[in-house]
Amino acid sequence: MQSDMRTELFEQYQKLSFGFYDEQKVGQLMTRLTDDTFWLSELYHHGPEDIVVTFLTVTGALIILAKINLALTLLLFLFLPLMTVYAWYFNKKMNKALRSSKDRIGDINAQVEDTLAGIRVVKSFTNEEVEKHKFAYVTRRFLASRSDGYRSEAYFFGGLGAFAQLMTIAVIVLGGIAIVHAALDLADMLTYLLCVGILVDPIKKLINFGQLYQEGITGFQRFMEILEIEPDLQDTPNASDLTRVRGDIEFQDVSFRYKENQKDVMKNLSLRIDAGEYVALVGPSGIGKTTLCSLIPRFYDVSMGRILLDGHDIRDVTLRSLRRNIGIVQQDVYLFAGTIAENIRYGKLDASPQEIIEAAKKAHAHDFIMALPDGYDTDIGQRGVKLSGGQKQRLSIARVFIKNPPVIIFDEATSALDNESEKAVQDSLEKLADNRTTLVIAHRLSTIRNAQRIVVLSESGISEQGTHEELIALNSAYANLYNMQAKI
Ligand SMILES: Nc1ncnc2c1ncn2[C@@H]1O[C@H](COP(=O)(O)OP(=O)(O)O)[C@@H](O)[C@H]1O
Ligand SMILES: [Mg+2]
Repeated sequence: MQSDMRTELFEQYQKLSFGFYDEQKVGQLMTRLTDDTFWLSELYHHGPEDIVVTFLTVTGALIILAKINLALTLLLFLFLPLMTVYAWYFNKKMNKALRSSKDRIGDINAQVEDTLAGIRVVKSFTNEEVEKHKFAYVTRRFLASRSDGYRSEAYFFGGLGAFAQLMTIAVIVLGGIAIVHAALDLADMLTYLLCVGILVDPIKKLINFGQLYQEGITGFQRFMEILEIEPDLQDTPNASDLTRVRGDIEFQDVSFRYKENQKDVMKNLSLRIDAGEYVALVGPSGIGKTTLCSLIPRFYDVSMGRILLDGHDIRDVTLRSLRRNIGIVQQDVYLFAGTIAENIRYGKLDASPQEIIEAAKKAHAHDFIMALPDGYDTDIGQRGVKLSGGQKQRLSIARVFIKNPPVIIFDEATSALDNESEKAVQDSLEKLADNRTTLVIAHRLSTIRNAQRIVVLSESGISEQGTHEELIALNSAYANLYNMQAKI
């Protein structure tokens, strides 16, 4: 069951959108996947057994007790409501404390993940002390929540244990009085005491179960919190598969903002890109170029307006078929731990070694790969740390080349390359751009001179568009940008 739940949670993680991950910390999500499901499995491993055993022994013991002396047994029953109220109260406190300590351990994991992922930055700024402080802070918070938890656990266990002992004492005192008044004989009294002992044992078990239940149920709550999130980007019930995409892209009056309460990144933007066209997008940093590109594969939904691919609203086609037809090389390259070949193959899972080499050659990666000791089988480390920035970029380009989609988006994909390899990748990109829609965000304007159309984004939307020559002749925003870069 634990592994089923873990799988279910992982599958849910795969469904959730960029919008969800923008707000989450990886460490927290990992804690939910590992710790929380563990406690839940402890609960249903021991829980049912504890309950059945307790129920049987308590009923059995009570019947025997009632047979020996009814009055004394009814008196014992008076303890039950008291114990229930007490247990209920501290159970609730325990729930709160356990819940918060689970959140806090998630914070610890999130902090560790953040520090370790950025360990190179930490060391370069010699900020090990700062990180230690951040870690000490989350640890202290965890400690505080843990001590709250232990306190309510102590009250819970100690109190209920005391009630159980009080029951024995009550029997001795009241039984003693009954013997004095000759209402009970000594043998019955001793039997009675033994049976009360049997009654106390399962009650202790039940108390243990109380804690187990809280550990499990708080884990379950955290598990359900994620599972109950409706992925905000889903296929509509009548979504169709896109087949044989030509690559006409059209933005119709698109407005977009990341969050309800934030300002629009773009407003009423309309743009047509014909199938097979090679369009470059330029504009100052932070203006929304990356955002515009991530709307096409529907990483986010537009706030207003619509985006059409081959005349279909992208919200009416299946996400899978949409994204399969779009290749995107993102600004921040992400490579997976593994070998070079595995990373290129990520673009086409059934690619042959020949195809991998072919793609690497197109991305001008083949030469540097062959120079590595193990060639295509070289392990590149987590996130590709064993490669240079330019090498990582070329791998990520090869990954898209092998996917070979009808629509390609390059988001400053050549920015980490030196001039020479940028030129080379540019060449193969232009070759690849034949017969497919290509959208390039370029960081050096010299690389997009050959684009069929250059679209300039500004605060107020698209401010100008045309070929390089036209825009230079216009002598406006683009010409300014270009002249500035040409001077350097
Ligand atoms: N995930 C996000 N959540 C909220 N705001 C974002 C997010 N990504 C980018 N932004 C904001 O949107 C604006 C456009 O960013 P971006 O498209 O990355 O710019 P560009 O690629 O043109 O440099 C910026 O002001 C940025 O702060
Ligand atoms: Mg960007």
